Amino acid sequence: MSRRTFFKGSVLAVAAAAAASGATACSTQPEPRGADAEARPLPIPPLYEGELDGNTRRFELTAQEGEFEIVPGTMTKTWGFNGPWLGPTLYMRRGEQIDMTVHNELPEATVVHWHGLHLPATADGGPALMFDPGESWSPSWTVDQAAATCWYHPHPHEKSALHAYRGLAGGIVLDDDDSVFPGLPNDYGVDDIPVIIGDANFTEDGQLDEESGWVGDTPLINGITKPRFEATTRRVRLRVLNGAVLRFRYLTLGAPFHVVATDQGFLESPVEVDGVLLSPGERVEIVVDLEPGKDLTLRDDKLPNWGGLPDKDTAETFGATDVFDLLEIVAPAEDAPASPALADKLVPFELPQPTGVEREFRMKNMEINGKSMDMTRVDFAVDHKGPEIWHVTNENDDMLHNFHVHNARFAVQGVENGEVEFTAGWHDTIEVPPLATVTLLVDIGYYPDPTLAYMYHCHMLNHEDSGMMGQFVVVEPGQEPNLKLPNIHGE
Ligand code: C2O
Ligand code: CU
Ligand code: CU
Repeated sequence: MSRRTFFKGSVLAVAAAAAASGATACSTQPEPRGADAEARPLPIPPLYEGELDGNTRRFELTAQEGEFEIVPGTMTKTWGFNGPWLGPTLYMRRGEQIDMTVHNELPEATVVHWHGLHLPATADGGPALMFDPGESWSPSWTVDQAAATCWYHPHPHEKSALHAYRGLAGGIVLDDDDSVFPGLPNDYGVDDIPVIIGDANFTEDGQLDEESGWVGDTPLINGITKPRFEATTRRVRLRVLNGAVLRFRYLTLGAPFHVVATDQGFLESPVEVDGVLLSPGERVEIVVDLEPGKDLTLRDDKLPNWGGLPDKDTAETFGATDVFDLLEIVAPAEDAPASPALADKLVPFELPQPTGVEREFRMKNMEINGKSMDMTRVDFAVDHKGPEIWHVTNENDDMLHNFHVHNARFAVQGVENGEVEFTAGWHDTIEVPPLATVTLLVDIGYYPDPTLAYMYHCHMLNHEDSGMMGQFVVVEPGQEPNLKLPNIHGE
């Protein structure tokens, strides 16, 4: 039994992780596809600024099938937005109204979720909003949050992992008037670079293997294997997204670098680190200083402390012991101009006063608080403005989980019984190590609508698909939830 087959089903993985300490565990470092090929230039997803009409920005996305040379010399059947594989980077500014249209030209129903955005539930793209092949969906909303790197991906009922794995994912650059800082690169594609990390397993004939599980042995950066970025400047800003289905990644560069932003925007000040952990769905913006002649490699290293997993065999089943080269960064030429000092103050971090409402979320196996996702059940209603305190516990001692909340940002107030790598700043997705409790101050967008829910879930996408998700509605004070019956297609 290969390590990959453990991940055929995520529930199976729970048992497998426990059983793995015997003869079946295989401890070899995965051999990525295309590892012997020449490095190729890092593809930069096009920046799609939509069509600006007054204060309204219009976008059109088409989810479609195609094929793409993910690994050199092989065409792989893929899905993408406005192209065969992945999607463009959407650019939006605070205060603008967004009119989005998504066309479904896939053979299956899907829906698109704007991960990290605060918006009405009608625009959020949860599973109740799935739409069929040949149909379109046109949500709109106003951007009302600070500059951040966000992303979009499908959220169909029980199939988010599959649709994202096939290539439906893209970045969102949220901008505002307060985000130009001395020394901070912001020229998209030149010194401000999206780095979308995914992974895949391939079949013999080079197709995406959808049977062998979801911890991909081949890392993909902006959709390809073994990329190289040739810097033309001495400082680059990388907007890194862990878009993988299951893999946690610990990113290092062999030299210290600065974190300037987390999921939901800028930190108060840049923080120097040697590495940063990204669980699936998380983003981080980092600033890397390059010296001519000294190339760097963005590497995915072993998770510190195996991510809190109890032993090496269990850690291996989650890929926590693997080491991969992700992206070669070629230093600029000698004559590249020096960079001005990086600003030491970014955006003030102001914690709003909590309202006194507290909630508890216990994640275990594929359930939260002992329940599996049910689209007809409202797990709770938020009937007020202002933040709540949420205590999130991973009750599995042998599984990684993380926690994501739609239409919200949160600050980490404390971590008990475990270690979270990077707690500063505003997040919307965070690791919850085995047996740890993470306490969050959750600031939820207030768009009352008793008829449609927002989700919270483990963002290891096939844990989500296996039921590790719940839903809440935002209502006016005293209003009762009243869900429109979800429209589950194809079942
Ligand atoms: Cu990116 Cu409900 O998730
Ligand atoms: Cu989300
Ligand atoms: Cu999980």
